Amino acid sequence: MTIEVTVMKLWGGRFAKTTDKLVEDFHSSISFDQRLYQQDIRGSIAHASMLAKVGVISQDEAGQIIKALEEILADIEAGKVEFEVGAEDIHMNIEKLLTERIGDVGKKLHTARSRNDQVALDVRMYLKEEIKEIIGLLVKLQETLLDVADDNKETIMPGYTHLQRAQPITLAHHLLAYFQMFQRDVDRLRDCYKRTNVMPLGSGALAGTTFPLDRHMVADSLGFAAITDNSLDGVSDRDFAIEFCAAGSLIMMHLSRFCEELILWSSGEFEFIEMDDAYSTGSSIMPQKKNPDVAELIRGKTGRVYGDLMALLTVMKSLPLAYNKDMQEDKEALFDAIDTVKKSLLVFAPMVATMKVKKEAMHRAARGGFTNATDVADYLAKKGVPFRQAHEIVGKLVLSCIREGRNLDDLSLEEYREISEVFGEDIFKAISVEECVRARNIPGGPAPEQVAEAIARGRKLIREN
Ligand code: ARG
Repeated sequence: MTIEVTVMKLWGGRFAKTTDKLVEDFHSSISFDQRLYQQDIRGSIAHASMLAKVGVISQDEAGQIIKALEEILADIEAGKVEFEVGAEDIHMNIEKLLTERIGDVGKKLHTARSRNDQVALDVRMYLKEEIKEIIGLLVKLQETLLDVADDNKETIMPGYTHLQRAQPITLAHHLLAYFQMFQRDVDRLRDCYKRTNVMPLGSGALAGTTFPLDRHMVADSLGFAAITDNSLDGVSDRDFAIEFCAAGSLIMMHLSRFCEELILWSSGEFEFIEMDDAYSTGSSIMPQKKNPDVAELIRGKTGRVYGDLMALLTVMKSLPLAYNKDMQEDKEALFDAIDTVKKSLLVFAPMVATMKVKKEAMHRAARGGFTNATDVADYLAKKGVPFRQAHEIVGKLVLSCIREGRNLDDLSLEEYREISEVFGEDIFKAISVEECVRARNIPGGPAPEQVAEAIARGRKLIREN
């Protein structure tokens, strides 16, 4: 077997042989960590400035390094750079480009730094930006929900338990439930951001460094709120990535539940909504079909993000301190979770904004299924009948209605009075679906008044977000 000769490694000093080609491919991460190029370069610029400030390198050397790094950044952005698998990862690819351009001065950049703290820095910087972007997407979605809710404060629909019609609510009230879920997602991401916003450079390989670094200067220049407090933890902590994937899993779970409902609602059996043509697709064989593919795909992609979370938890579960190469596996899972959450949120909001609401069908469904049965019982209870007894009476009424294929609204006053003398003429008003909703006028309830206030609170929350 011949061993291919490869480029000289930046760490090649101690090695007598070159890396096997298979191993080189196997352990290289450049194919996926190249997306960290910006963070890597910004981090290196901050490191070089700081090295000069504390006198580890000269101002002139720092100047040369920074200028070359800026040029490399511009070249990468212009598509002029081809990364090398042989240079392993983004950190060494950029360092190699640097030394190719400015020679020995470039070799000073890595003083008092290890790829272990470098990669921890890059991933944190990257994730911070992405968290901010995802919070923005969530807020946009929340705005969409408030807008659609505003138009549907009086759009009556059945509320469900066990997917059986239960009590009438409004579409606005239903949408605001999701508003709350996404608000918790925003809060969770903010919380995760706090722990991501800590600067690990200076942890070195694991035990810090003998050079008198100014870690706070680096943290300030890169916009970090604090520095990591322990060098071992600084290089081996990936909690922030796991927390993000957990928060992302919840976002996807919320989207998936919503998608499931939209899929059901657009079926011929429900017919509560119609997706806009731009967010549906047809079938290659069945000409009549209009499928809610986008919603199905988001529901399906939820599994990917759960998988990313499990992958990260499993990678980390038995790692001794500090850095282990296993941790290189963090990036693909994290990036996949970020991409999937972003893409899903991006397409979901306009899909909801453009869907057509079929108010009549919702109203019809709300009138069926005895959704006002509780209200008949409440009516009796308000007139002094103990609730359990009222429940029993209405249960009997429902049973006879089911047998005769009728609704509670269709019964005559005589029929009501046959079962209880307490019923009066006002029963009919009390159990119209409109009244059932209007009467649930308590904080957190579906009455249009309450929902209008909830929408106002939501708008205020978003303004303050
Ligand atoms: N590519 C590596 C990673 O993503 C960078 C850190 C490598 N450190 C090391 N000692 N091999 O984790």
